[in-house]
Amino acid sequence: MEHLSFLLHLTLSMALVLAPYTTAAGDDQFVYAGFSPNDLTLDGTATVTQDRVLQLTNGTVHLKGHAFYPTPWQFRRSPNGAVQSFSITFVFGMVPVYSDQCTDGMTFLISPSKDFSGAQTSQYLGLLNKTSDGKASNHIFAVELDSSQNTEFQDIDDNHVGIDINNLTSVRAKPAGFYDDKSGAMKSLSLVSREEMQVWVDYDGETTQISVTMAPLNVAKPSRPLVSATYNLSTVLEDPSYVGFSASTGPINSLYCVLGWSLGINRPAPAIDTKRLPKLPRTGPKPRSKVLEIVLPIATATFIFLVGTTIILLVRRRMRYAELHEDWEDEFGPHRFSYKDLFRATEGFHNKNLLGHGGFGKVYKGVLPVSKLEVAVKRVSHESKQGIKEFIAEIVSIGRLRHRNIVQLLGYCRRKGELLLVYDYMSNGSLDQYLYAEADKPTLDWVQRFEIIRGVASGLFYLHERWEKVVIHRDIKASNVLLDSEMNGRLGDFGLARLYDHGTDPQTTRVVGTMGYFAPELARTGKATPLTDVYAFGIFLIEVTCGRRPIDNQAKDSSEILVDWVVEHWHKGSLANTLDRRLQGNYDADEVCLVLKLGLLCAHPVFNARPSMRQVMQYLDGETPLPELMPTNLSYSMLAVMQNEGFSQYASLASTSGTQGMTSIISSGR
Ligand SMILES: Nc1ncnc2c1ncn2[C@@H]1O[C@H](COP(=O)(O)OP(=O)(O)OP(=O)(O)O)[C@@H](O)[C@H]1O
Ligand SMILES: *[C@@H]1O[C@H](CO)[C@@H](O)[C@H](O)[C@H]1NC(C)=O
Ligand SMILES: *[C@@H]1O[C@H](CO)[C@@H](O)[C@H](O)[C@H]1NC(C)=O
Ligand SMILES: *[C@@H]1O[C@H](CO)[C@@H](O)[C@H](O)[C@H]1NC(C)=O
Ligand SMILES: *[C@@H]1O[C@H](CO)[C@@H](O)[C@H](O)[C@H]1NC(C)=O
Repeated sequence: MEHLSFLLHLTLSMALVLAPYTTAAGDDQFVYAGFSPNDLTLDGTATVTQDRVLQLTNGTVHLKGHAFYPTPWQFRRSPNGAVQSFSITFVFGMVPVYSDQCTDGMTFLISPSKDFSGAQTSQYLGLLNKTSDGKASNHIFAVELDSSQNTEFQDIDDNHVGIDINNLTSVRAKPAGFYDDKSGAMKSLSLVSREEMQVWVDYDGETTQISVTMAPLNVAKPSRPLVSATYNLSTVLEDPSYVGFSASTGPINSLYCVLGWSLGINRPAPAIDTKRLPKLPRTGPKPRSKVLEIVLPIATATFIFLVGTTIILLVRRRMRYAELHEDWEDEFGPHRFSYKDLFRATEGFHNKNLLGHGGFGKVYKGVLPVSKLEVAVKRVSHESKQGIKEFIAEIVSIGRLRHRNIVQLLGYCRRKGELLLVYDYMSNGSLDQYLYAEADKPTLDWVQRFEIIRGVASGLFYLHERWEKVVIHRDIKASNVLLDSEMNGRLGDFGLARLYDHGTDPQTTRVVGTMGYFAPELARTGKATPLTDVYAFGIFLIEVTCGRRPIDNQAKDSSEILVDWVVEHWHKGSLANTLDRRLQGNYDADEVCLVLKLGLLCAHPVFNARPSMRQVMQYLDGETPLPELMPTNLSYSMLAVMQNEGFSQYASLASTSGTQGMTSIISSGR
């Protein structure tokens, strides 16, 4: 950039030296479009800038400056003759430095001397002084461009153009402006507007008519002059005389600049090529350093960029971590997790942290940022707002449950369309993975299985009877039994089913639970009770002992429904054949028998025939012997067996109380 501007400067300087229109084109004319320092004789504050601008003042107050065409001119054809016609054009601009005001002004002048060291500043415009003002011995003709009003010189305003002869009190003055050629209307101009303006000064030697015309740079010379006066300059001017400019500053910093200038004696002044003119200085007197000129825009751009980026990042971050939060949740504060923490804990819910997915959504492993606690985060998609308040309240109250056989719910977080539940992390995963040998888990021996069964029973007993409220799990099954680091069975996922049947129309209620674990009456009433949990627990007992899923879609024969299959074997006296082969015969026969029969009892189709969890605990601990299980209406097929054997009184009981349900749920698809 610097290089280019230097080249440009060089080229232009050469053009100024060589081109015909920049120097005197004859003895009686010249034209400048921009200046070089050698073109003029300067004094005081006057300088020619690098940009080829003649700056008469330099931004320092109470100073003056002058610029003259170096050599004087003869205005008369013969020594005693009359002053000939002449014409001058110049382009000027006033640049207030720190305010919108300029003091005091500038002049174009014709004077026998270039020495203005005795002239005063401020209102004297660097032209005269208190003693010389008005004296005929000055031999000065000037056109003043005055931007302040001095009453001592009877100034008309602070924005006027005047014709001065030896005297700062103008012969004639007018407010700055021009007469529009088309409309003839006077259009005002502001001298201090920082705009370039052109002035034409014409003297007619025959009529002694002086006229001064001005216009904005882009407007051609108006035909009607702004100020005119008739004054015989033959009585004023001496020969030879210099032509030039003067300017002075008062108490306010101002730049008075001349961009172009031309003169013609006895001929019109040559037109100034306005396209070749330099630009007015934009700001203050000191040209800003190159470093600032380059660094400042870059710094500004960088700053704006950074601010923008930061805002975008903040907004994205807000959106990314946006949560739903309502006033009623305040009371659950301690149980509320921030989404940001959960996001960080699970490394942005990365797939590598995925533990599995179930009916409600995906489950991720995570490590909480501050406490370093290992957690499992369940993302449940949830659209409806309905019932959410009750549900959250329930979740939070469930969070207060403490039992070694229950997966601790630590808290929750709510976002648009989803609910996040935070649980203790169970390092050994879910029981089904062991039973069905998924994920390379080892099979469990009988001792471990019996321990898990007792643990789950104890957890369920706690939910049903030991806590302040009755909590119904609703979804007991092998995949909801999780194993902690000591292989204790723990119930997880309780209460979630509530979310889906909360407050909905009973007609359309989707009963939530898992096929095969459904108590028959649940399908009819849709109402979960502790006894529907007991039913599912019974199925779970059989499942764990037999190592088979409650409903085996693969099986072709009658073994499709696990309970029926076990009852069948029991009836045939071959109960041992139902045991999980992976136990390889290593088990306590009494315990296995107890668990299987207890499972069948719990999964009794008639709900009031099922034991409570308190009783289940007693049976498992051997405190109470299991009642001799009557071959009652355990299932449809069982019923048939019973009928054959003459237990008709049970058959009639069954058909009134539970047969419908039995056929539809337990024996469906047979
Ligand atoms: N607290 C936990 N600690 C460790 N792993 C867990 C935890 N909770 C769930 N998991 C894992 O995530 C899997 C999916 O759990 P989830 O409870 O969503 O599914 P499910 O029980 O199979 O189905 P459903 O949602 O119908 O109950 C589980 O099988 C288990 O492996
Ligand atoms: C203006 O010119 C005067 C006189 O030449 C000088 O003393 C002063 O430092 C100059 N000011 C600036 C800002 O250049
Ligand atoms: C006034 O100006 C004249 C002409 O320039 C000069 O001779 C004279 O000394 C000046 N007077 C003062 C007081 O500066
Ligand atoms: C300057 O001109 C004004 C107006 O024509 C006049 O009143 C004044 O006396 C003149 N000054 C001198 C010193 O002659
Ligand atoms: C102007 O003044 C000069 C010298 O005094 C005189 O010769 C000339 O005739 C005058 N011009 C006019 C138009 O009065």
